Amino acid sequence: MDYPAHIAQKLFSRIQGAYGMEIEGLEGFLETPPDPSLGDYAFPCFKLSKALRAAPPKIAQTLAEGFAADEYIAKLECAGGYLNFFLNQAAFAAAVLDEVLQKGEKYGASGEGQGRVVCIDYSSINIAKRFHIGHLSTTMIGNALKNLYNHLGYKSVGINHLGDWGTQFGRMIAAYLKWGSREMVEEGGVKALMALYVRFHEEVENDKSLEDEGRFWFKKIEEGDAQALEIFAWFKELTLKDAARVYETLGVSFDSYAGESFYNDKMGRVVDELRQKGLLVESQGAYVVDLEAEKMPPCIILKKDGATLYATRDIAAALYRKDNYDFAKSLYVVAYQQDLHFRQVFKTIEKMGYDWAADMEHVSFGMISYEGETLSTRKGNVVYLEDVLEKAVEKARAIMEEKSPELEGKDEVARQVGIGAVIFFDLFNSRIKDIDFYWDRVLNFDGETGPYVQYSHARCCSVLRRGEGVPQVPDYEGLNNPQALAVLRALERFPQVLREACQRNEPYLVARFSVELAQAYNRFYYEHQILGESAGVSAARLRLTRAAQAVLRLSLSLIGIQAPERM
Ligand code: ARG
Repeated sequence: MDYPAHIAQKLFSRIQGAYGMEIEGLEGFLETPPDPSLGDYAFPCFKLSKALRAAPPKIAQTLAEGFAADEYIAKLECAGGYLNFFLNQAAFAAAVLDEVLQKGEKYGASGEGQGRVVCIDYSSINIAKRFHIGHLSTTMIGNALKNLYNHLGYKSVGINHLGDWGTQFGRMIAAYLKWGSREMVEEGGVKALMALYVRFHEEVENDKSLEDEGRFWFKKIEEGDAQALEIFAWFKELTLKDAARVYETLGVSFDSYAGESFYNDKMGRVVDELRQKGLLVESQGAYVVDLEAEKMPPCIILKKDGATLYATRDIAAALYRKDNYDFAKSLYVVAYQQDLHFRQVFKTIEKMGYDWAADMEHVSFGMISYEGETLSTRKGNVVYLEDVLEKAVEKARAIMEEKSPELEGKDEVARQVGIGAVIFFDLFNSRIKDIDFYWDRVLNFDGETGPYVQYSHARCCSVLRRGEGVPQVPDYEGLNNPQALAVLRALERFPQVLREACQRNEPYLVARFSVELAQAYNRFYYEHQILGESAGVSAARLRLTRAAQAVLRLSLSLIGIQAPERM
């Protein structure tokens, strides 16, 4: 039931009847009154005073006269220049609950994105580096966006644009051949690779010739030397194996791992096209796209030695994605530090004459600090994500042990709660805000947290288990109270929340929504008896509980979090 459309339709005919005018778009003027006692929808008549040449209160009165109540609208009141509509509670409850329970996991789904592709570049880790807590946001925001777009009917393509190209890999091979061994790296994995890299940087201080060795090996990679490629491929494999464990724990996956090196043979086109379109200019031996008119430093395409850059690869990748996926949108979930980089890349593509440059968006996000400390790989102040996740599960387990020692399958629940808490915390604020990760906030069961929402969901499940066998003949009078109404309103709002989350690429709207729904349900739960009322009232309240349970579960799942049935 689309209430705004229904009200707009009724208003339309009243205006036609009373003023002989046809006014479209009335639906867009409807507002939600600040206080529920003023009604469920309000129509501000001053929006019509120009067209109808009358004062708002007069219009309100005229339209109210002869306005017939129906099965959906119980009554209408004039308040100054406003018309306030009061819904028929029972019909509203039935409409919302029918919709939620019929659609189930598909509630809020739409065909909005039918036939449209969204490319999402997220996580995009670097080879020979371990996954640290700084990678959490890109990974989880990207994953949530992927789920959300799919829910709205888009076809999303998840891309892990691996950082697998650059001179540092020459240094790494040099370091490996000098100080490493197969066994040592086989055993130590990415940690061993990182140790080798650190050693390289320490020793190069005293022995500058090491730089030449690094350059030598990178050149070998570029030339396709078999030994260099073999070692490099092995480093890559180790890194991906390491990351796969984390991705599995987080429940994240990708459709493509085409990283920077994938574009090696696709860069010629970029350079040729830029040159041919007169965009490539020489600058101190390098070739750049001048962006002075756009008040940006030039976008460097080729270095003096002819080597390509990060930006060159991103331009090649954008062209490739457009050709290959014909995206309607192409998103880059990358920290705000790369803001300038993406503005330069997008602008360059626009200058190449591609109007789809406007469909690319840098979905940026803030930094994360850990227990009050800012993190820096360079200063060796790193917190590895795997350690954080492990600790989260351990802590969740200790809490479960204390709260519900009898719980079956405690290990699995602790895993879902621990991991869920970390993900939820990461997604709870608008992207651009920096995140201060503190354990006592992440795992606070009473705050606005993942565990709180999961706990509310488990509460619904438990109510439903206890209510099994209650005959399903709902009497919606049982939901005629402000607390139930607040739950219904939240449920009704959900599809709109999903649309807005995609429009703004902000999964936090869904995380916030889940907290609001949980809070609304909990207030209802504390104020009203669910079981042991008349069968009809209990049935209605159980139906509300079932819908809240379904939508809590769905909200969490869309942002990548599981919802245990018992906690
Ligand atoms: N690997 C890069 C980094 O860690 C992020 C890559 C983001 N994606 C892109 N298409 N540039 O900084």
